[in-house]
Amino acid sequence: MTDHKQMIKNILEQSEKPPLCFLHSFGCQQNVSDGEKILGLLCEMGYGVTNDITAADLIIYNTCAVREGAELKVYSLVGNLKNLKKKNPGLIIGVCGCMAQQEKTVEKLKKSYPYVDIIFGTFALGELPRLLYKALTEKETAVDITEYNTDFPEDIRPVRSSSFSASVPIMYGCNNFCSYCIVPYVRGRERSRPPEAIINEVKELVSSGCKEIMLLGQNVNSYGKTLDEPISFSELLRRINDIDGDFRVRFMSSHPKDATKELIDTIVGCEKICKHLHLPLQSGSDRILEAMNRHYTAEKYLETVRYARSLIPDLSFSTDIIVGFPNEIAEDFEATLDVVRKVRYDNIFSFIYSKRTGTKAAVMEDVTPEEEKKERIQKLLEVQREISSEGFRRFIGRTLTVLFDSADDEGYCSGKSNEFIIVKAKADASVIGSFRKVKITKAFNWALEGDII
Ligand code: 5AD
Ligand code: SF4
Repeated sequence: MTDHKQMIKNILEQSEKPPLCFLHSFGCQQNVSDGEKILGLLCEMGYGVTNDITAADLIIYNTCAVREGAELKVYSLVGNLKNLKKKNPGLIIGVCGCMAQQEKTVEKLKKSYPYVDIIFGTFALGELPRLLYKALTEKETAVDITEYNTDFPEDIRPVRSSSFSASVPIMYGCNNFCSYCIVPYVRGRERSRPPEAIINEVKELVSSGCKEIMLLGQNVNSYGKTLDEPISFSELLRRINDIDGDFRVRFMSSHPKDATKELIDTIVGCEKICKHLHLPLQSGSDRILEAMNRHYTAEKYLETVRYARSLIPDLSFSTDIIVGFPNEIAEDFEATLDVVRKVRYDNIFSFIYSKRTGTKAAVMEDVTPEEEKKERIQKLLEVQREISSEGFRRFIGRTLTVLFDSADDEGYCSGKSNEFIIVKAKADASVIGSFRKVKITKAFNWALEGDII
């Protein structure tokens, strides 16, 4: 245990009741996974975890910078903490993650929210003990947004919210510089974890009963390229597939420019890998794709989809789409709808373009009125609703494997099928955390319903 960890432990041991921490992560799975590690670190130092923010002695917001909306939400929540801090001056407040990695956030927090005690970026997660010690012993805000070239220590045990579904980061950062995206600026260049570390983590999870492993990276297809002994993502998948046990594997995200035939062939050949591919399209217009710096055309994207479907006719696709990129005109948007109709996704995540200072797109002229962007996204959602309700009917009468994860008050449990589609069935909560075969009887535009057999 490092000095700071031990020193914090000593301080916390003196408190009357066990100190509690509250952490909320915004944004993507990677951020959620970072949050789980931060909690692991805090537990190691003697904190308990609470979901009740008013009972916490330490509150951390692990932030996202991908869209402005997420940033505004954080400022509003941090604003709300002022009263809690007044009531409890010993409360420590921390803001970390992608938003905190930016200098402008540090300035704004220091100026307008001076009661924030700790600000640390994505590279400094492992520095938390030092920063927390400073916050506990000094008055000044502890800030660290240094771009360290080491990642979060491998020996931290994450505190995961689920015992049966776990995210496992395989790489950090991104080299792609899509022109709208802040991620490469706040998470740095691509770094892959060694395959042995990943395999060991998966083995441990599986032997402790975990049923679903979600491999994470901004672009998993470029996994392993920068390692001393390079290995491909497909090879990593094959090695994970060879691990004994009753579990399934997903991965996110695949950049279409790097989604190779080898990757598709690997999905076909590995029985534990879900027959689902999240392939962010972003736009179906070649002109916009070029301005986005995506390095593929709509046709190249469709070719990958066709190849995959020729081998796995039932492969489920999901995607991310940005509506209203600077200068997207009606024709570009129609091209996006065209690809959406051709691919027939089971699920899409759509976003209105959000200008991110520091990115290439931020200085592009944007003539499309906000109202029009809103109309476009509504249209996209409408088209997708029709596609999913029609597409989901293909499952009626068939039996899907579902990992149940929650129960409602009306006697139903729901979970996700291997195709990553929500399935609900009449069942009691005892099915949660286990795979069940479900015969599908009904299709909605957002989910399926069936009977456990
Ligand atoms: N505006 C809107 N959406 C964005 N995304 C990334 N950057 C932006 C932005 N500036 C979306 C992309 C990406 C997803 C995680 O977030 O669709 O795939
Ligand atoms: Fe952002 Fe593009 Fe990297 Fe994804 S691949 S994180 S969209 S820059």
